[in-house]
This record gives sequence, C-alpha cells and structure tokens, in this order.
Amino acid sequence: MTRSAAVTGATGFLGSRLCDRLAAEGWDVRALSRPTSDRSGIDHQGDLEWVVGDVFDRQALGDLVDGADVVFHLAGIGLWSADPATVEQVNREGTRNVLEVCRDSDVGRVVFTSTAGTLRATDGDLADETDVAEPIGAYQRSKATAERLVDAYAEADGDAVTVHPTSIFGPGDEGFTMQLLAMGLEPTMPATLPGGASIVGVDDVVAGLLAAADHGTCGEHYLLGGENLTYDEAAARIADYVGGTAAPIQVPAAAIRAAGPVAEGVSAVTGQQVFPFTRGMADLATKRLFYTSRKAHEELGYEYQPLEAHVPDALEWYRSQ
Ligand SMILES: NC(=O)c1ccc[n+]([C@@H]2O[C@H](COP(=O)([O-])OP(=O)(O)OC[C@H]3O[C@@H](n4cnc5c(N)ncnc54)[C@H](OP(=O)(O)O)[C@@H]3O)[C@@H](O)[C@H]2O)c1
Repeated sequence: MTRSAAVTGATGFLGSRLCDRLAAEGWDVRALSRPTSDRSGIDHQGDLEWVVGDVFDRQALGDLVDGADVVFHLAGIGLWSADPATVEQVNREGTRNVLEVCRDSDVGRVVFTSTAGTLRATDGDLADETDVAEPIGAYQRSKATAERLVDAYAEADGDAVTVHPTSIFGPGDEGFTMQLLAMGLEPTMPATLPGGASIVGVDDVVAGLLAAADHGTCGEHYLLGGENLTYDEAAARIADYVGGTAAPIQVPAAAIRAAGPVAEGVSAVTGQQVFPFTRGMADLATKRLFYTSRKAHEELGYEYQPLEAHVPDALEWYRSQ
C-alpha cells in the first residue's frame, strides 16, 4: 500500500534529501514551500505535490498534513539567517501550529526534527537523550520549547517522536559542510577551529528519520549522530581523502570566546544581533560536542557511516559552487 508523507522544510538541505528518498521509495509526498523558497534543483522529484505557505498559515498546513500517514516537521531557522525573535517564532510557534493542525486533522505519526544542541553532557563525556541541557541562545531555546510541545502532544492522544540530529554533513549545505570542506581542502584557508562535533552524513539522518517514523516509540527522543571528531581530525581526514593538506593553524579558543562579549556589546548598543554569538554560544563553539546514538541504534536499527563515505558527494557539490 502506498504511504503518504507531509514534509515541512522540504526546500532545505535535509528536507530536500528526505523528499528525494521518499519519492524514490514510492511514497506520496506533499511538501511545504514558502512563496519565496528556491525550488530550483529539487523539482525533479516526480510526483511530489507542493503546498505553498509557511508555518504560520494554518490553511496551508491543513492542506499539507490532512490524510498523511507521517508528518515530517523539519522547517526551522537558525541564527545565521534570522534575528532571535524570528528564530523563536518559526521554531516554537511554527511547531505549535503544525501540532495544532495535526491534532485537528487526520494524520498518523509526527516526526519532529529538533537538534542535538538541546542535549549536552555535563562531564565531557558523550551526551545521550537524558542529558537535557540549559539552552544557550534563541535557537536552542526555541527548539527545547518545541520539544516540550511535541512531548505534550504525544502525552495527550497524539502520536509523535522527536529526533535530534548532530552536525549534518552533505551536499547543498553552505554552512557547516562548506566550512569543514574548506578547512580540509583549501591551502589558503588560514586556520581550523578548536573543539569538535559529532558529524553525520545527510543520508544517514534521512534513514534515521524514516526509522523513527517506522520503529520509534511514541513520545521518545532519538539522537541521530555520526562520528565524534575534533575539527582538526575531520579536516585532516578530508585532506587525506583527497590527498591534500589540512589548514595548518588552529584559531585559539580564547579568540573565539572573545567574540562573544564583543558581539554582546555591539548588540546591546545597536539593539540588533550583529552576528549570532553570545558569550555562551562562543564558549560552546570551542567545546567537543560529542554524542552517542546508541538508543537509536538499538531501538531503530540506526547506523551511521564514517566521514569518508560522505565526502565524494559533498566534494562534487563543493567543487560545483
Ligand atoms: N543542518 C544541520 O546540521 C542540523 C542539525 C540539527 C538539526 N537541524 C534541524 O533540521 C531541520 C532542517 O535543517 P536544514 O539544515 O535542512 O535547514 P535549511 O537548509 O535552512 O532548511 C530550513 C527549511 O525550513 C524552511 N523554513 C524556514 N522558515 C520557514 C517558515 N517560516 N515557514 C515554513 N518553512 C520555513 C526553509 O524554507 P526556505 O527554503 O523558504 O528558506 C527550509 O525549507 C531544521 O529544523 C534544523 O533546525 C539541522
């Protein structure tokens, strides 16, 4: 029997890859696109039906989700693209709207994409789903509140699970992926960063989203991570893979931490977020943010590939830019 999916965030880095996979597996896919969304490059997805609107448009959301077996709610925004108030609105109120519309419609399971950023180990170990952290900045705060809304939806009579991807690597991502590739590939790139991350390939996250839809337990949270690597290690592994040399010098952690107070000071004077760094966020950027995906592995059958498995696709895209 053909299954149906509704996807928010379908025009984004992760969402477009999810839609590709759903379409390839024969799902009926309805996908949300803002009137301003750039859909060039993702229109090849066969029978995908676009619903135009945003997460504040309940009519469009109703049209999107009604009758869907699975609602993948991925739409979200970070501090690089929007001011903190917009980030809170889209991530928190957008999720509230999606859930309210789902509650009033005929839908199966909601799979909510949060972030590993709402989880953090206190003792320098690997964080798991129990390590719920005090949010730092509007992005984490909005995602943490959205998670509580999803939990409440599941505790009432809704069916919902939450996934927490770590740092996603793959073609089409002009943020993290582009920076990491530049650190590994560009001889002119002056420096790498201190700290590290759990780096997960975009296709592994897509597989995790599908596994959460099929095998997740209602109300549960699942980390979808990859290899835990310092940025130095990741840059060196990419350089090795392509036979190059990774960026030689590391930006001192103190310099990155110093950016926090500067940005806070400028924001305080101008009333505008000049760049998305507060003291807390700057400090976080220097840390090793490592995670375990054991729960997803045991309960969903989730697997992740090493970084090198994801480099060829990402590299082809990077070189085409
Ligand atoms: N990338 C990562 O490393 C990472 C890690 C953890 C969690 N996540 C989460 O995963 C999700 C997808 O991330 P991504 O990297 O694919 O982000 P992305 O490329 O920036 O895509 C974001 C998507 O959300 C849509 N969107 C933004 N504001 C919206 C609004 N008001 N109404 C409707 N749609 C809106 C965007 O539409 P437009 O195309 O019109 O802008 C786009 O489709 C996000 O929730 C993000 O927080 C990402």
